[in-house]
Parts: sequence; structure tokens; C-alpha cells
Amino acid sequence: MKKNIAVLSGDGIGPEVIEQAIKALEAVANTFGHQFSYREAPIGAHAIDLTGSPLPEETVQTCLSADAVLLGAIGDPRFDDDPDAKVRPEQGLLGLRKSLSLYANIRPVKTVNTLAHLSPLNESRIENVDLMIFRELTGGIYFGDRGLDAKNKVAFDTCVYSEEEIQRIAKLAFEQARLRKRKVTSVDKANVLETSRLWRRVVREMGKSYPDITLEHMYIDNAAMQLIQNPAQFDILLTSNMFGDILSDEASVIVGSLGLLPSSSVGVHTSLYEPVHGSYPQVAGRDIANPSAAILSAALMLEDFGLLKEANIIRFSVQQLLEKGIGTSELDPEIIQTCSQFGDLVESLVELGKDINFDQAKFNEKISTII
Ligand code: IPM
Ligand code: MN
Repeated sequence: MKKNIAVLSGDGIGPEVIEQAIKALEAVANTFGHQFSYREAPIGAHAIDLTGSPLPEETVQTCLSADAVLLGAIGDPRFDDDPDAKVRPEQGLLGLRKSLSLYANIRPVKTVNTLAHLSPLNESRIENVDLMIFRELTGGIYFGDRGLDAKNKVAFDTCVYSEEEIQRIAKLAFEQARLRKRKVTSVDKANVLETSRLWRRVVREMGKSYPDITLEHMYIDNAAMQLIQNPAQFDILLTSNMFGDILSDEASVIVGSLGLLPSSSVGVHTSLYEPVHGSYPQVAGRDIANPSAAILSAALMLEDFGLLKEANIIRFSVQQLLEKGIGTSELDPEIIQTCSQFGDLVESLVELGKDINFDQAKFNEKISTII
């Protein structure tokens, strides 16, 4: 298979984790005879420094003409601390979501048993957590009218949703539920917000076409609480843009490290794959960041290309390493690896995978010879 991939490494630890993801993709390409080509393009603070814009038009064109987009991270404290900044790195990401019509952000959250002790929750609570958040990504309060009065004393942001915007994300969530535990929890604030009442009505209506799926509605405040109290109850969480932003960060700490979680954003044009974590500028350039989320994002990309076996090999390799107590320092593992060392190990395991027919015992053997 031949694919063109737009690579937007972005800011902070973005470039170093993306380098590892590309190593994993190249290992897959070499092992299975695929051809991936990469075109890099700037975004975020890096793009502001180069061009003055967080999303140069050329970057949008590179993404639109690619088969998929692999993104690192966006954000730089130079802009966070300046409330008057006219351009912000985040505008690059928001602009890209709009330009590519990436209306659904999908974030799988699954417990890694050997890392359960890193979770802020009791191990018993996080057993069997396997959920997915379907977050609407191009509408709601993120993209409604906003403003500030002339005296800088009053500000507003508007939340707008159309029936069609709700339908298209809800449909994806229901379809995915069919492949899983057949449950959709739709999150809203229908006791207060008009957009949430519309959300609930549209989702309920759609639920009628999926009689095999259990549909429940939950207020956002309750959902935030339930996610801590009993996260294993959820299968698919379906949310608007801002509720999903908040819940997905909350859900991400359940598994113990933000460095483990991949995401995909899909829509009308090219899909985008990125780690859930941010640019983590404090450790940028030190080769200690966890590349797992970026590598697993590459696996999601392969899955969407229809390369299921290849995607699973990457996942299995990462999982094997973590289960063997091998990982980056924030996981407090038995064997600490740098970002690039972890990437090297994944690369070797992927290459090995084909020869040993993905035999688990042989994988284990190989790991002990590498370390
Ligand atoms: C995310 C991020 C973005 C968002 C920021 C960087 C604009 O937090 O992808 O969740 O709020 O959507
Ligand atoms: Mn967020």
C-alpha cells in the first residue's frame, strides 16, 4: 500500500515523539512491503516563529492533499502567559480542524493492567475500563460568535449546534458502539442549555434506529463524577466540543499517564491522528517524553487505512514493553528508556513480529535480548 502522510510535529515534545511514531511506521512499511511518504509542514508556535501564522495556507494544502495527517503537539508558554497575544499556537489546531472538517475526535481509554498503580484511582475502580469518547470537534462554544465590549469589561462566547452537526457525530458513536459493548452515554446539560436540549432530542431520535444499542443521557456534572466513581460503566461517551474536551482530560488520567493515549479526528476530508497529551515544554528536547501516545496514534492511522494486522503489531509491541516494566521515566518502570530508546524497541519488535508470527513468548525472548 502507498500512502502520503502529512507530518505536523508542532511544538515542545511534538517533534521527538513524532520521530518515534515515524520509526514505527517505517518498520511496518519495511516489514510488510508498504510505502509511506512524509511531507512535513509547520503548525502552532513553530509556524508562528517561521511565518507569523499558526496555520500557514501551505500547511492546510499539504494536509488536504495527504492521505492522513500525523500531528505532534501544539502550545508554547510564551503565548499562554500573554492574554493580549494576537496570534496563538492553538489557533493553528482549531483552524486545521475547521479546514479539514474534522467533526469527530475519538479518544480510546483503556487500562494497562501493569500500570494500574499509577492511576490516582484505586486499582479496583479502574479494572476493565475500556471506553471511547466521541467528542464533537468543529462546533459548539469553540466556534460560536465571541466578543469583548469596548471597555474590556464584558465578554461573551456563544454555543451553537445544528441538528445536522449533532446527527453526524451521533451516528459515528452509535456505529462504533455496535462493534463494542453496545452502549452510548450521551452527555449534555439539558436542564439548563438550549443546545443541550436539541442535542438530547436529536440523539434520542437517532437512538430509535439503533434498537440494539442501550442509550442513556447523563448531565455533564454527573458524568464528570461517574467517570471517577465508576469509569468501567462506560462504553461510548458522546459529547459536545467543550464537554468532551474536559471529560477526555479527566478520562486520560484514569490510566495513569497522559503519555499513553492516542486519538483520531475524522471528518469530511483527510483524518488526523495525534497524541492526547500537550506539548509539555518543560521537558522538550531532553529525550525523556513518552512516545507511546504518538506511536499508538500511528497505529490508529494504520487501522483506518485498513491495515489491521499492522496496527495490532504496533499496539502489541507497545503493550509488551509496558507489561515487561519497560518504559519512559514518568511511568516509574523497572527499566527506564529514553524517548528514542523506547522508539527503537518498538521498531525492533515490529520488525521481529512478522518472522515470529507474532508469537508472544518469542516477543518476550527478544525483549530480554535487547535490554
Ligand atoms: C485538545 C486541546 C485543544 C482543545 C486546545 C489545544 C485548543 O486541549 O485537543 O483537547 O481544547 O480542543
Ligand atoms: Mn483538551
